Amino acid sequence: MKAINIEEKFTKFSKNWHPHRIAVVDDMQVLLAKLKGEFVWHSHEDEDELFQVVKGTLYMQFRASSEEAGSEGGIRTEVVKEGELIVVPKGVEHNPCTKNDEEVHVLLFEKLSTAHTGNVKDEMTQTEYPWI
Ligand code: NI
Repeated sequence: MKAINIEEKFTKFSKNWHPHRIAVVDDMQVLLAKLKGEFVWHSHEDEDELFQVVKGTLYMQFRASSEEAGSEGGIRTEVVKEGELIVVPKGVEHNPCTKNDEEVHVLLFEKLSTAHTGNVKDEMTQTEYPWI
């Protein structure tokens, strides 16, 4: 039962798109990740996924109909600024991205069973989240 300093934890790893675990709450986990560039389109059949932006600006892409406001090329981008969070509901296809070569720091809150890239296997897929 010790206080966890999030800023300090972010200094303990550098690899992009590789979540690291800082806490477990029942069957949920708190992860930190450094994101840069584009991830991979995927969905999680049985799990919601929370992204809280600690540093930078996250661009969360969703599939959209062409009539949907703010959509372009069948994609709707939700801008999540520093200090904001977004919940991606189970079953919803999403693709987290950053812009302008910015490294974005996020805190994730999700079930221990949540697979990194959900229904998709990709070279970016991580299967182990190291404790830091
Ligand atoms: Ni996801």
